[in-house]
Amino acid sequence: MENILRCYGEIYDVEIERAAGCYLYDAAGHRYTDFEAGVWSAALGHSHPAVTQAICQQAGRIMHLGYRYQHAVVQEAAKAVVDLCGMPDGRAVFLSSGSEAVEFMVQMSRRIAGRNTMIYMQGTYLAAFGSAGARSPDAWHEFDWTPCAGCQRELGEDCPLLARLDFSSVAGLVFEAGSSRVMMPTMKPLACLNHKLRQHGGMVLANEITTGFGRTGRWFGYEHYGLQPDMVAMGKGMGNGYPVSAVAMTLKAARAIEGSNVRYAQSHQNDALGCAVVLKVIEAIRTENLVERAGQMGRYLSERLQRLVEQSPLFCECRGTALMLMLQLAPGVSPEQAAELHKNLFLKGYLLGYSPALHAFRLFPPLTIPQQECDDLLTALSSLSLNY
Ligand SMILES: Cc1ncc(COP(=O)(O)O)c(C=O)c1O
Repeated sequence: MENILRCYGEIYDVEIERAAGCYLYDAAGHRYTDFEAGVWSAALGHSHPAVTQAICQQAGRIMHLGYRYQHAVVQEAAKAVVDLCGMPDGRAVFLSSGSEAVEFMVQMSRRIAGRNTMIYMQGTYLAAFGSAGARSPDAWHEFDWTPCAGCQRELGEDCPLLARLDFSSVAGLVFEAGSSRVMMPTMKPLACLNHKLRQHGGMVLANEITTGFGRTGRWFGYEHYGLQPDMVAMGKGMGNGYPVSAVAMTLKAARAIEGSNVRYAQSHQNDALGCAVVLKVIEAIRTENLVERAGQMGRYLSERLQRLVEQSPLFCECRGTALMLMLQLAPGVSPEQAAELHKNLFLKGYLLGYSPALHAFRLFPPLTIPQQECDDLLTALSSLSLNY
């Protein structure tokens, strides 16, 4: 592994040989339960047979095609995706990563509106690069929604937080229903921002890279807020580990782009292989009833984690929804202890996400995670707590 750049901390010294469902297997045959679904992507579980088969079939037919040519799978996937977003006459574009999809929404909404300012909610991640990754303060406004708790104002009433912003220069709001930090904004600030944006011609852009495809117990996180976005970015779970992302948009937004001189081109835009994967993932989520399952299993796991938090000196909070859960480490746990705990869990056979910056463990398992695995993880966490 000496030629692999280490730009995200320690890589554990265990060779993972293969993956199947919720499990990874190392070269010595040890099994690990993946409560992180890779990077929150293997929604159906790793190496899902139907997805593997779709990849093999499509790869033998056509993987990739130039901009000016058609292939039926791409249209089918676009239709499936816009339908999921409640935009049956809308349009979709397929890209490769979540960051690209978010950046695409931002660029397009700016071009359509002819404005530059973007709003994002405090606690959101957005992207690894581009304007959304950098979020320079001259173009991005962070909306701190924490003072909105208990707000009694009616929708449309004057609000000092909203009055700080000149909405006539705002292209749009990029909204995440939780994402990597698992901080779900409350309903009220979202409703107020939505109202203001609609009054001034700004757009609502939902970033569903992490929250989409069932992770929050709905197809998309924005559904919890009763919002209808103008554009929706999706990735991660939609490829089940294969790098495909997409932006779906309303017909109105699409017409504004198609009727202008805007051009956008990337090598892997609308690749047939990614689209074949998307179609198979959507079909499998439906047939395996995974959106509902994520809600049910998430409630089961989160109730038990809450009990653990009450009894354990290691953790001080469990937050999140469905299978997007965060265990906050207690302030008394040092960063070195936290890293050690994470490694111990791995050696015991449990992969959890670990964010040193947030001092927290993340639980974003495949939506297929068996109940018994949740119980076993809780036993492991309880025994670590006893030994602390
Ligand atoms: C909410 C959110 N948006 C965007 C991204 C970026 O996606 P990608 O890493 O595929 O570029 C991530 C990645 O973790 C994310 O959590």
